[in-house]
Parts: sequence; C-alpha cells; structure tokens
Amino acid sequence: KIVPVIMAGGKGTRLWPLSRAAAAKQFIRFLGEETLLQKTLARVSDEALYDAPVVVTNEDFRFLVAEQARELGVTLDGIVLEPEARNTAAAVAAAALLVAERHGRDTLIQILPSDHEITVDATYRSCVEKAAKAAQDGKIVTFGITPTEPATGYGYIEIGKELVDGVHQVSRFVEKPNADVAEQMLAKGNYAWNSGMFVFSAGQMIAELEALAPEVLAAVEKSIENAKTDLDFTRLDAESFAESPSISIDYAVMEKTENAAVVPASITWSDLGSWDAIWKLAGGDENGNVVNGNATVSDTTNSLVMSRNAHLAVQGMEGVAVIASEDAVYVGRLDRSQDVGNLVKMLAADK
Ligand code: GDD
Ligand code: MG
Repeated sequence: KIVPVIMAGGKGTRLWPLSRAAAAKQFIRFLGEETLLQKTLARVSDEALYDAPVVVTNEDFRFLVAEQARELGVTLDGIVLEPEARNTAAAVAAAALLVAERHGRDTLIQILPSDHEITVDATYRSCVEKAAKAAQDGKIVTFGITPTEPATGYGYIEIGKELVDGVHQVSRFVEKPNADVAEQMLAKGNYAWNSGMFVFSAGQMIAELEALAPEVLAAVEKSIENAKTDLDFTRLDAESFAESPSISIDYAVMEKTENAAVVPASITWSDLGSWDAIWKLAGGDENGNVVNGNATVSDTTNSLVMSRNAHLAVQGMEGVAVIASEDAVYVGRLDRSQDVGNLVKMLAADK
C-alpha cells in the first residue's frame, strides 16, 4: 500500500482575496461543498490502494487541517508542522524521513498537492499502480498530463523512451517556462505537464536528497530529531528547520535526478492555482460567465464573478475576474491571473 502525503503548506497568493494568510486556498470552498484539502483527502480514501494519509502543513494551519479531516471522518497518520515555509523540498524531506522511520525505507509514498481537482476513475487508479511498480524499482515517478495550452504556471516534462509498460524515461524537466518556450514545447508534442504528484520509495527520496540537496536533508533531519510531538502533531524544530534552503522539490530533485520517470496520464486534472483555472473548471453559462454567491451580471461575457458578502453587480465587462471576500475586492483581467501573486506582494509591502 501507498502512504499518501499531502502538501498543504502553500499560501495560494494568486487566489487573493479568497485565499488569505489565515486560510490558504487548500482550506477554502471555492465552488463546491468540500474544500480542496477535503477533495484531496477523499481522493486517497481507497483502502485497497492507500494507507492513512500524512499531511505536511504550516504551523498556522494546524487546526484547519485537523478540523477538515475530522469533518470528513478521515483518520490521519499524523500532521507534520513546519514552523515556517521552506518550500516543498523540505516538506517532502520531512515526510520521507518520518515515513521511513515509522514504516520502513521501502514504503511507497505518493505526494499530493492539495490544490488539484482530479477525477478518480479506473484510468487514475491504473496510472497510480504503474507508478507504484516503477517506484519499487527506485524511480521517482511523476504523472505527465497532456497539455491543452501553452500554460506558464506548470512544469513540463519531455517524455523519453518507454522503460516498462506505461512508464517512460524523463528526457528533460522544465519548471515553469516562459510563454515562448511553452509554445515550442506544445508544438513538439512530446511534452507533458508535470502534475506535481510524485510516487517514490521513502529510502530512494532520502538517497536523492542526500546526493542532490544535502543541506535540505541535513536541516530537516535535525528538525525531526528535535521535534516535539503532541496528539497528531509533529512540530519540527524551528531553529534547525530554518537552516534548510527554500527550494521546491522540482528544482531540488526532479530537474537533476537520473531516476526520474513519467507515466503519461490522460486523467481529468486541473491545478486550481489561479482565477482563470477556477473559471475554466466551472465551465460557465451560455455567455461564458461563472457567477457565484451574492452576485449578478448584465451584458458581461467570459467572466468570473464571486461574492462572499456584499451584493456584487457587474455590467458591460469581458474576460474579467471580480472577486469579493468579506473584507476585500479584486478586479482584474482573467488573462492576467498569473500576476495576482505580485499584486499581493505589493499589498503586503504597503502594510
Ligand atoms: N507543506 C508545504 N510547505 N507545502 C507547500 C509549501 C511549503 O512550504 N509550498 C507549497 N506547498 C504545497 C501547496 O499547498 C500545494 O499543494 C503544493 O505544495 C504545490 O505548491 P504550489 O505552490 O501550488 O506549486 P505550483 O502549482 O506553483 O507548481 C507545482 O505544481 C504544478 C502542478 O500543479 C510544480 O510541481 C509544477 O511543476 C507543477 O506543474
Ligand atoms: Mg499548484
């Protein structure tokens, strides 16, 4: 069985103002009944395939995680708390070390981001099974999603020759290219989006980190030695954890390792990281509008309009996002959704 490890420590700044410092995107109900974290927990509930999940998150989000798991009736194998955000390499390192300690180095882990919308069906399951087999042979396996547009918010994988049934070599890994490079890769056809989900054995990931990101591994090892445990929470030691470089697992390991493999996966997948992704996923009415909450639109097309509070009315607009939370309003072009993060940096600097 696979131990699912859910990455839930990101800030989700591109979804401001619904995603906030106090409650990041993974804890929010965007359009449906469940939060993105809850959807992720539900995705790994198949007991034939998965053991109880581990969640790695920021200290600040501990009660949100515990409460949202309880709401679903999911028993976690633990909640690992980062005293500060050091990006995903440190989070993956902590998970690999703790799983190796508790369940043995050969245990398979699946990393799951907590900001995805995925349909779990027979295709998904068969992709996970193929990945698990390759992971037993020491591969770090990702899922390659067939790209539909030259997105700049994803990593790309050049698909190499087939190693075993349905599992290919990774010829090259390109994290978040610019628009020109993305266009070229799309035109070539042998590139897939990195899904951000990885399957590997705990021991193999520890070995990769030792070779490719020893400073991350050393800092995280120390933070586990000095960790404090209470209830389900493992609190990593702040002083040692802070010594880890802040780097993503994609840059630290995936771009460098010889053992990267990819399962091309034609699954229904979406990273709900920005307003245009939410708009696209929701589908829209006959005018291409997604209208949610206390909102009305008139003479408006291809727009996302959401209000959590005051009545919001939008007129005569095309291709915009207008998002009102309890205490803030965002107005911007949907095709500029990737830039909201920069705006939020400005807002933080103004304070
Ligand atoms: N625990 C923890 N700590 N989790 C984190 C941290 C951290 O410091 N930073 C981010 N995360 C979590 C986020 O909550 C999210 O679930 C996941 O890790 C991925 O982070 P994102 O910030 O959403 O990454 P991304 O979407 O920009 O890029 C990654 O995912 C893409 C696909 O969704 C990369 O792997 C890309 O290559 C990939 O295409
Ligand atoms: Mg993401």
